[in-house]
Amino acid sequence: MIETEKRRASTIQDAKKPDACAFVIFGVTGDLAHRLVIPALYNLAATNLLPEHFCIVGVAREAMSDDELRDSLMKGLRKFATRQVDESIAEQLLACVSCVEADPKEPASFDGLKTKLEALECSTESGGNRLFYLATPPSAFAPIANQLGRVGLLKEDNGSWSRLIVEKPFGTDLKSAKALNNDLLKIANEQQIYRIDHYLGKETVQNILVLRFANGMFEPIWNRNHIDHVQITVDEKLGVGHRGSFYDATGALRDMVPNHLFQLLSLVAMEPPAKFEANAVRSEKAEVLAAIQTQTQDEALHNSVRGQYTGGTIGDVTIEDYLKTENVKPDSTTETYAALKLTIDNWRWAGVPFYLRTGKALGIKRTEVAIKFKRAPFAMFRDTPVEELVENYLVIGVEPTEGIALHFNTKVPGPSIAIDGVEMTFRYKDYFKAEPATGYETLIYDCMIGDNILFQRADSVEAGWKAVQPFLDAWKAAGDSGLAPYKAGSEGPKAADDLLKRDGRRWRVLG
Ligand code: BG6
Repeated sequence: MIETEKRRASTIQDAKKPDACAFVIFGVTGDLAHRLVIPALYNLAATNLLPEHFCIVGVAREAMSDDELRDSLMKGLRKFATRQVDESIAEQLLACVSCVEADPKEPASFDGLKTKLEALECSTESGGNRLFYLATPPSAFAPIANQLGRVGLLKEDNGSWSRLIVEKPFGTDLKSAKALNNDLLKIANEQQIYRIDHYLGKETVQNILVLRFANGMFEPIWNRNHIDHVQITVDEKLGVGHRGSFYDATGALRDMVPNHLFQLLSLVAMEPPAKFEANAVRSEKAEVLAAIQTQTQDEALHNSVRGQYTGGTIGDVTIEDYLKTENVKPDSTTETYAALKLTIDNWRWAGVPFYLRTGKALGIKRTEVAIKFKRAPFAMFRDTPVEELVENYLVIGVEPTEGIALHFNTKVPGPSIAIDGVEMTFRYKDYFKAEPATGYETLIYDCMIGDNILFQRADSVEAGWKAVQPFLDAWKAAGDSGLAPYKAGSEGPKAADDLLKRDGRRWRVLG
């Protein structure tokens, strides 16, 4: 155990120190910057992974002094830090924060931003490298990028770099995602664009590739000959809360599937890349997403379930009916739960269904990928008291248990033959004492060192939207017909069970 700890510490020590740079946050007064971006920068500072010459420029639409911004970010850090805040590290980090007022609706403000940034780069010796983090509502992505392009801040000259981190949601459907890609690619090249999906910052998600390709025993059976089906679950306990206006226009499918669930799906289903390198990995991910069979609208209706929660309790928390949520239309048909059956049209996966489900206000918070293997032949136990064999699953746990579990049959000790299902589990926390993190640390660090392996490429984003588009269209056309209610605190609509039942399968039970 001590050895594993030493190995973990040395991965931090051996990590390359990023180049000097300016870290420019658009939307710095917002929730994302306070809740995740600054706490992640703090964690990087605490592990000595920020550049020596570094400055943070917060861009706000309304005037604010540097000190006001620092105070507000400090409050956010105290509230959302994932580890004990060391005041001296926090003060040093926030001392390099400046606030600049700029709004794409007033293009001249971007000329001002450029002037201020250049002055700061001289005084902080941050070297002319720039990272622009668009932590804003999506409608501002293209206008901000256009202004950055117009004033020349996305130009990479004299060996310096300029990178753009774009948050999710990247588009709201295939058409808008393509349009956003087109807009961005007119002013920056693909290498400069870092489309973020925070699922890729989770250690257990990154571990999927290591599990599959650094072990000799899994890959030979990772195919249609041995795997019966795959279940991907991202269940949440929280309701929609104060995000009513965003969520009601978005829904569970757009919010979670083409991004987070498809990250899990593509890592589980992709072919082995030739190298552990951004282009090779991202090409295989894009390839497998493009192989998801496009469904007709009728097929999409047949292969999906959508639900909306009604009031209920989860533990001692009462969740009100979705339709009573602030900023949600009282007759809204937006789904808060989605379950899909997809198939991947390639040699490895032909005939293996991928069942995906995600929802809000469910009885438990759980994210996992469960690989269900084909049953062993029962023949040899026919004349014994054994009635059935338990199902063999390999479960990749992302939350709350970070780890891997294998479910298999074993003999119950005793004179006669009896078989029971047991579970062999690896838990990250038993081996590695990693400090809790936001998940954004790795992503921000990778962007600073220019490694886009954990970011989405334009083709992957479009392939993801292409696969969900028939469901979006079919549900829109169906209106409220087929929208299944489920009680907050339950396991979701019953129709989701039927989706698997008709194939002779069942979801893994929650909890
Ligand atoms: C976000 C969604 O991208 O992911 C939220 O907008 C969701 O609705 C969240 O709650 C889930 O992330 P995690 O890391 O808690 O599974």
